[in-house]
Amino acid sequence: MVKAKKWILAHHFDGNPKDSDMKLVEETLPELKDGDVLLEAVYLTVDPYMRPFSAVALKEGDTMMGTQVALVKESRNPKFPKGTYVDANVGWRTHTVTSDESLLRKFPPFGELPLSYAVGALGMPGMTAYYGLLEILKPKKGEVILVNGAAGAVGSLVGQIAKLKGCKVIAFAGSPEKCKWLKDDLKFDHVFNYKQVKDQEKAIREASPDGLDCFFDNVGGESFTAGLRCMKDFGRIAVCGCISSYNDKGEEKQGPYPNALINRRQLRVEGFLGWRWMAQWDEATLEMIDWIRQGKLVVKESVTEGFDNMRSAFYGLFKGNNIGKAVIKV
Ligand SMILES: NC(=O)c1ccc[n+]([C@@H]2O[C@H](COP(=O)([O-])OP(=O)(O)OC[C@H]3O[C@@H](n4cnc5c(N)ncnc54)[C@H](OP(=O)(O)O)[C@@H]3O)[C@@H](O)[C@H]2O)c1
Repeated sequence: MVKAKKWILAHHFDGNPKDSDMKLVEETLPELKDGDVLLEAVYLTVDPYMRPFSAVALKEGDTMMGTQVALVKESRNPKFPKGTYVDANVGWRTHTVTSDESLLRKFPPFGELPLSYAVGALGMPGMTAYYGLLEILKPKKGEVILVNGAAGAVGSLVGQIAKLKGCKVIAFAGSPEKCKWLKDDLKFDHVFNYKQVKDQEKAIREASPDGLDCFFDNVGGESFTAGLRCMKDFGRIAVCGCISSYNDKGEEKQGPYPNALINRRQLRVEGFLGWRWMAQWDEATLEMIDWIRQGKLVVKESVTEGFDNMRSAFYGLFKGNNIGKAVIKV
């Protein structure tokens, strides 16, 4: 008999997440039947989307959503033999018995690279950065791009790939340590601590008086408005996320009306989800692996040890605790 631990949503979040919203419980798993695998979580991930999506996709008492890098510990399914590693969309749990193959993604071999990258740079956040930048914004050499949330899982890769494509990168992040990393190690061109800058629009204009060709928006709210106001004619904006509003209570805040500016500057503004390109993820993964091996792409992780600490790692996303990808090592 295998006992699993899992985190459940005890109460729907209301404002900033608090400890009583989630609960750690135990469950005894059934014996394996034909077609089943027994998974053991090795790395789990906490991602900002879990906050807004839990409100629409989960009922109170449900297991928190999310993927994990899992080892197939036992198998009665020849497609997933014992010893295989998979990216498993089974939620926040240490052990799982399932026969649902649609939840299990085999990823290309990483060689010497850490398996945790399967939930980070070589998983959903990495694919979001890669396809959001290259398919939505299609940056050209010499163009100026703004990325906010720039020291996070998605943002840090967006800025680096944009540099690889010959762009000038302007970035916003939320601490001196993060800004130093982006400027000194990742060589972003202009980096601002948005918590210290009084006027984000002014900062962008100082960095690029002619404005922005591209804007990869992870944050929304005031940060979106600042970037929007600095767009050049025919600029492109990729709306990736809006973490600044995920903990807002009640109705989403209504910001300034952007229509006139979008119209006058003839902007293209497109929201997207990284899942859109899932059928092509392996291609991008192989290219990203090459870039990492050649030292062209730097991957940083903030690793929380212990499944029992997963809840605080999740809450930490909204306090800016992570640099690079927030990962949980079981
Ligand atoms: N479209 C998609 O398919 C997709 C996929 C993945 C992620 N996303 C979105 O992309 C964004 C970044 O996700 P990620 O996984 O890379 O997370 P992340 O950036 O690794 O972690 C979250 C970071 O957001 C920043 N933050 C938190 N509250 C903020 C606020 N009120 N204002 C400004 N910044 C705040 C914090 O950094 P600071 O210290 O800099 O504040 C924090 O470290 C999120 O909006 C997420 O929902 C979208």
